[in-house]
Amino acid sequence: MRISDFDLYKDLLKEKSGLTLTPDKSYLLDSRLTPVARKWNCPNLEAMTHILRGMPSSDLVKDVVEAMTTNETSFFRDLKPFDQFRDVILPHMTKSRPSKKLRIWCAACSTGQEPYSLAMLLKENAAKLSGWQFEIIGTDIDTSVIEQAKKGEYSQFEVQRGLPIQMLMKYFEQKADRWALKQDIKSMVQYKHFNLLTPMAMLGKFDVVFCRNVLIYFDRETKETVLKNMSAVLPEDGFVILGGAETVLGITDVLKPMDNTRGIYIKPTCTTIAIPAAPKAAAVKA
Ligand SMILES: C[S@@+](CC[C@H](N)C(=O)[O-])C[C@H]1O[C@@H](n2cnc3c(N)ncnc32)[C@H](O)[C@@H]1O
Repeated sequence: MRISDFDLYKDLLKEKSGLTLTPDKSYLLDSRLTPVARKWNCPNLEAMTHILRGMPSSDLVKDVVEAMTTNETSFFRDLKPFDQFRDVILPHMTKSRPSKKLRIWCAACSTGQEPYSLAMLLKENAAKLSGWQFEIIGTDIDTSVIEQAKKGEYSQFEVQRGLPIQMLMKYFEQKADRWALKQDIKSMVQYKHFNLLTPMAMLGKFDVVFCRNVLIYFDRETKETVLKNMSAVLPEDGFVILGGAETVLGITDVLKPMDNTRGIYIKPTCTTIAIPAAPKAAAVKA
């Protein structure tokens, strides 16, 4: 690909989705955009690039942006964030929300495994959460993954990644060669198309935001804007959960890592959240 064509895609993707495209990833343009060119009846990528240089339709731009997103996800991905949600976040919320209402946002939810994992976790703990109302909102820039998430149907391969067999048996039913979530879990999650680069206030306030494995694709400036906007939709004692390769350190001070936890961020001014005890150091053998 010519440098000027690479720059066109780099600028377009940065503007529309925040994705930072580095030259070492230029091979992704060929592999992911060639099917888009075919869909738009272009004989090759060069022909589609030519259209993009002119006055492209918003649908073409949308297809290009969506094709370049990485939608990798799985049920209970990395496990620790879900354990901490149950053991650190939920105990705080149950003490501090007399309204017994909790709003959770999965801010780049891909095909829905993350919000559905939270819904199943809440169901598993239903006895302790009697009378509580949970609103889980899953959003993503990619409309095709949002449509898949709404369906709540997964392949054998997808349910084998991270989902305990007991939960598969309890919360899914087999539909030909796929596994469909039962309605009681599906109805706990609402899905919306949403671009993290756009104003967030319209979504309302959230007690907990899962924003995992998406900031890694953004440059420093975009991460800072997204984290600042996210902090503004949190109450004083709200929580943000980032992915294992993401942090706020060196990016913004509107959030800080919560002591003795991993991947949880809170407002530096918050004084009401009890910090869990430090894990005991392993005994050193003589
Ligand atoms: C790697 S997946 C992460 C899914 C899930 N959070 C997880 O950790 O398993 C990243 C998701 O971020 C979405 N995404 C990328 N840029 C976005 C943006 N500007 N706004 C909203 N979602 C975005 C992609 O479409 C993709 O589904």
